[in-house]
Amino acid sequence: NKAQAWSALFSEPMSELVQRYTASVGFDQRLWRADIDGSLAHADMLAAQGIIGAQDLGDIQRGLAQIAGEIESGAFTWKLELEDVHLNIEARLTELVGPAGKRLHTGRSRNDQVATDVRLWLRGEIDGLAGLLTGMQRALVSLAAQHTTTVMPGFTHLQVAQPVSFAHHLLAYVEMFARDADRLADVRKRVNVLPLGAAALAGTSYPLDRERVARTLGFDGVCQNSLDAVSDRDFALEFAAWASICMVHVSRLAEEIVLWMSQNFGFIDLADRYCTGSSIMPQKRNPDVAELARGKSGRVVGHLMGLLTLMKGQPMTYNKDNQEDKEPLFDTVDTLRDTLRIMAEMAGGIVVKADAMERAAMRGYATATDLADYLVKKGLPFRDAHEAVAHAVKVAIQRGVDLAELPLADLQTFNPAIEADVAEVLTLQGSMGARRVLGGTAPEQVRAQVERHRARLGG
Ligand code: ARG
Repeated sequence: NKAQAWSALFSEPMSELVQRYTASVGFDQRLWRADIDGSLAHADMLAAQGIIGAQDLGDIQRGLAQIAGEIESGAFTWKLELEDVHLNIEARLTELVGPAGKRLHTGRSRNDQVATDVRLWLRGEIDGLAGLLTGMQRALVSLAAQHTTTVMPGFTHLQVAQPVSFAHHLLAYVEMFARDADRLADVRKRVNVLPLGAAALAGTSYPLDRERVARTLGFDGVCQNSLDAVSDRDFALEFAAWASICMVHVSRLAEEIVLWMSQNFGFIDLADRYCTGSSIMPQKRNPDVAELARGKSGRVVGHLMGLLTLMKGQPMTYNKDNQEDKEPLFDTVDTLRDTLRIMAEMAGGIVVKADAMERAAMRGYATATDLADYLVKKGLPFRDAHEAVAHAVKVAIQRGVDLAELPLADLQTFNPAIEADVAEVLTLQGSMGARRVLGGTAPEQVRAQVERHRARLGG
């Protein structure tokens, strides 16, 4: 019976609806390992400080080890009337080892306990996600390494702009994911601070050694204000903001994969295992995985909004509102984990149709800027060169040909400085190769970037 947790004061039991409404055990049981680790560290410190005896510590350790086994094997019975993961584990401990179980909560509150558990759990997930982000980058870098001379149209306004290599385009995403990795490492610093010892809100009169608990659990430091320790969830907000930014990057890549696979682009094909068919149209192969990755960015951004809204009106310190932080956080982690894995795998299965990319780059006068630059090198002011080339493009459009297909004599009518050496300038490879500035699309620059990323990302 639930009244046990806060005992004698209550004169009537909770209604079933209130019980169900206030319980979190249905979802927070996923924190069980963090909860047990936190309890072990707390108990070890209580014993070291002489607050509980060595016998009690031994009992607690034995009981928690058994509980971990029960949970892992699925034998543990989670009880709704015990509200959450913390009370479920503590009740079972007391059932197993008696009085020592009742001493575990000395100098501790569920308020600092839950804050500790969530941080511990999230830290582990962050480390897993960091590895997946590395995998994502490696997949893109190894695809890029094969395509430093594969030319495609670079777009602005989704209109053909200038030729770029497919590798250069992919490495733009690697830059985004590299920044995401940096941001995640930064979020981790603020997640990895220990709330335990703040107790309910004001600290505790027991001589706790918080630094010892922090060391045991691998925290970098301890929260310096007990009120902040139990009420702060901005580590979760930051994580959700990180996840939202990362998913926006994933979503942009996914959108391009969808576009590229459309017959109207035809730039790539995806392995069958990442596509699904249609129940009515026999010819269909749809890039569902990429579409879902794009779509799932919505729920992650939604969770960020949910968490921000959850926090904005809360007075100090702990409020039950905070229990609502878990489901959005859990779903964010699950979504990121699956999405980063599947996108990295799928990127490895991209089949590049270089001919189609090149044909598309030929269609939009992508080397017009090169012709203007050519004239500037022959002494024309850039604005005049721009004007001359605009005339040339207009004529080429009228004749339905590319700039490179206009006879030299015709080109010279736009400006007499144009000579036979213009031919090289008007090719896609020539245009790309000329962009040798640091960060430009010239193959030698892009190859250097591939090497930089490889060295950074390791084997
Ligand atoms: N299940 C609660 C949560 O997730 C644990 C903390 C409850 N503390 C309290 N005083 N009711 O936030």
